[in-house]
Amino acid sequence: MSGDAATEAHTGSIAFTVNGRPVAVAAAPITRLADVLRDELGLTGTKIGCNAGDCGACTVLLDGRQVCACMVAVGQAEGRAVTTVEGLTEGLAEGTELNALQAAFRRHGAAQCGICTPGMLMAATDLLARHPTPDRAQVMDALGGVLCRCTGYIKIVEAVLDAAGADNTVEPAAGAAVGASISRIDALAKLTGTDPFAADAIPADALWLRVVRSPHARARFAVGDLEPFLAAHPGLVRVMTAEDIPFNGHGINPAIKDQPVLADGVVRYRGEAVVALVGERTAIAAIRDEELPIHYEPDEAVTDVAAAMKEDATLVQEDKSGNLLIEGYVTRGDTEGALGQCAAVAEGDFETAYVEHAYIEIEAGWARRIGERLELHVTTQAPYMNLEEVANILRISEDRVRIVPTACGGGFGGKLDVHLHGVLAVAAMAAERPVAAVYDRPESMASSTKRHPSTIHARLGCDRFGILQAMEMEADFNTGAYASFGPTVASRVPVHASGPYKIPNQRARGQAILTNGPPAGAFRGFGVPQAAIAHETLIDDLAEKLGIDRLELRLRNALRHGDTIGTGQVLEASVGMAPCLEALEPGWEAALQEAVAFNSKSSGAVRLGVGVGTMWYGIGQTGLPNPSAMHVVLNNDGTITLFNGAVDLGQGSTTVIVQICADAIGVPVESIGLVIGDTDCTRDAGKSSASRQTFISGKAAQIAGDDLRRKILARVNAGADSRIKIDGAVVKVDDGGATHEIDLSSLPATGDDDGEVLRGEGFFDPPTTALDDNGQGIPYATYGFAAQMAVVEADTALGTVKVLKIIAAHDVGRSINPQQVVGQIHGGTAQGLGLALLEEYIPGRTENLHDYLIPTFGDMPEMEVILVEDPEPLGPYGAKGVGEPGLIATAPAILGAIRHATGARLTRVPVLPHRLRAAILERA
Ligand code: FES
Repeated sequence: MSGDAATEAHTGSIAFTVNGRPVAVAAAPITRLADVLRDELGLTGTKIGCNAGDCGACTVLLDGRQVCACMVAVGQAEGRAVTTVEGLTEGLAEGTELNALQAAFRRHGAAQCGICTPGMLMAATDLLARHPTPDRAQVMDALGGVLCRCTGYIKIVEAVLDAAGADNTVEPAAGAAVGASISRIDALAKLTGTDPFAADAIPADALWLRVVRSPHARARFAVGDLEPFLAAHPGLVRVMTAEDIPFNGHGINPAIKDQPVLADGVVRYRGEAVVALVGERTAIAAIRDEELPIHYEPDEAVTDVAAAMKEDATLVQEDKSGNLLIEGYVTRGDTEGALGQCAAVAEGDFETAYVEHAYIEIEAGWARRIGERLELHVTTQAPYMNLEEVANILRISEDRVRIVPTACGGGFGGKLDVHLHGVLAVAAMAAERPVAAVYDRPESMASSTKRHPSTIHARLGCDRFGILQAMEMEADFNTGAYASFGPTVASRVPVHASGPYKIPNQRARGQAILTNGPPAGAFRGFGVPQAAIAHETLIDDLAEKLGIDRLELRLRNALRHGDTIGTGQVLEASVGMAPCLEALEPGWEAALQEAVAFNSKSSGAVRLGVGVGTMWYGIGQTGLPNPSAMHVVLNNDGTITLFNGAVDLGQGSTTVIVQICADAIGVPVESIGLVIGDTDCTRDAGKSSASRQTFISGKAAQIAGDDLRRKILARVNAGADSRIKIDGAVVKVDDGGATHEIDLSSLPATGDDDGEVLRGEGFFDPPTTALDDNGQGIPYATYGFAAQMAVVEADTALGTVKVLKIIAAHDVGRSINPQQVVGQIHGGTAQGLGLALLEEYIPGRTENLHDYLIPTFGDMPEMEVILVEDPEPLGPYGAKGVGEPGLIATAPAILGAIRHATGARLTRVPVLPHRLRAAILERA
């Protein structure tokens, strides 16, 4: 009996209530409740992140108690009451959009990307029904089964504790949006589960596509006769192979399209796409990979950088000699000579692992052909790069491709590369129906890019006063089987190898090495977090050698205005490194005293430790053009529309860019409507990566707003300081002496859009230069700076570490929206904690969210965030960026704290208990 026949044989009508309404579904009793809610009842507010009970995104209430809907068979719901996020707003008074809990989430900024938010809300609803005024521990316990990759959980806890609080949000007046903690513009959709993620709006008539992936890290393969296979599987429409792909290569680097859409006779990593099945959803789901006529001849894989760099190593890509993809280099001064003159030199070897992005929204999308054009709806961080990539794969002109980014449930760099774009596009161009695909969690983890594992050797020297004189770093990055962001990491790391310190003599090299591992790509920091572990450990070494306080040593060497960095660039403005360190001083002193007092009294295995880490981060791409364009229009009905091509993957760019634009025009935020992302409607705002959207796209939005304001004022010859007020279809301009009126309905329509009467244009490309052969030039127009300190409790007998507190001081130039900036720092810190203590992706072994651990509520420490504002003259109202900086200093601070607590100098992350225990025993 086929799977379909078995399902039909057991399908009956199952009755239960959903959000108070009776429903009856014809489904097999073993069907997952989550699937029934989404696919049969259209309640897509319930999200699916793992289908294994690990992530909690699908949490609903069953008879009032929280359950993972993916782990409940619909038969178990018979006769019972199910409540979903859509039910939270049932029965609210007219005009009330959110219940009290949802309003608290909005007030506290507890939703970023929003994919986990329905699950969080349902778990909290269960708790609050039983404990209307819970304490913090109860909140953390009750919500502990739901994972969030964006927020660091802190604002979620705050929101639940304040669920009964007053909703006293006040919208800022015209011209006062910048600096105000307004709620996310898209908060309502995220809190009601109506923000359509890629898997939420797939057309009902779509064909489905499933990729069959290699079980081997390295193999040759042949695909046998597919005709009999197709004939034996009714509902299977097509099996796509490499031969079906017009241009079978992609890659984020315009010059390196080395990754096949479908492998062509050779697979280079476990999880690589081999063929794609297209057909009816149930038909392709029922096919087991082993049934396909694919014959593999496995070969020995090149597992890591050491193996790849051996003289006789097998080449991962035949044309890459020595398995070297690319290298980056920075040199300045006489490093070797200076190290020889130093009073103290520290040296070390460091190692980091593959880290998985673990965004809760797994990859999904759908495509359709419309006439001669291809339209792709997809979760992405880079719609315009996707457009170029898809057009190239299809070998059609770019004007025949439209990318419509859906709501993006987290990315962190992992949704910059194309994932299912190529196969969907090719399938849809040949199909009469739309074609859709949704990965499952193991597929997402096996196939997607990762943080580069690194092996780093570094030396750092100073004079007897602790003033740094020279730094040397050799950093090898395992870039996996294909290039992805390997070139970016190799070029960015040498620039950042010095840390945020003034060092006259530097030599740093970064290499991206090919292996048969998953492609390593962009992940919040682009290699800088790995390098920071090295330079911060060496700073601690020097402090120990010289008997200088660790924070003081960093302050003595911190970059300041007018200093020259390793590339020869002079930092003229916005260098808030020293103020960040100074901001930590009170907390640092107090924590050190507390640790000393505790450790002197304690005779047990538990020790307290305090550590500090710093970071700097160049905003935007390294020495490359990096433009964004925006436009904003005034319509004849008085509405204003900002056309914003920047994708908000949770970081809040949609909101802060509106705040910037609103202040530039001089109108309230709520005056501005939005068109987001769609490549047919917006200009290219570049990719959402490298912390660039606030700085670059925000600046473009400011310029566009300024332009529109100038054009409005010019119409009535009003001065630059005039006040603008829009009243229906009339613009009133008060220049201090008189009020001028512009009747918009009388103006001729201009531009492409119906009703447009005035348009402001904005374009910004930060001034950088390419680096020369010695790495000299201006790689970034501005840099973010931060210092974080950590307090940890380490159990020297068990090797376990609990982070108790993080104080994070960040120079963001200007905080456009302090609540969202703090949220970014919370979330980045959580990922930094995971890098330090938890996360290690091992192909074939940790391809799910129970073997691969990311921080949960219980892992997060108390956090204090201090915002330092050293304005960047180039940035919008002085702003820089904070997405990547939130993460980078955390792991070094935690490692320093572990060392302070235990004496063990850890050079390999994650610091799993057996590694810490081994390091402690080694010292004994
Ligand atoms: Fe929780 Fe994005 S807001 S996963």
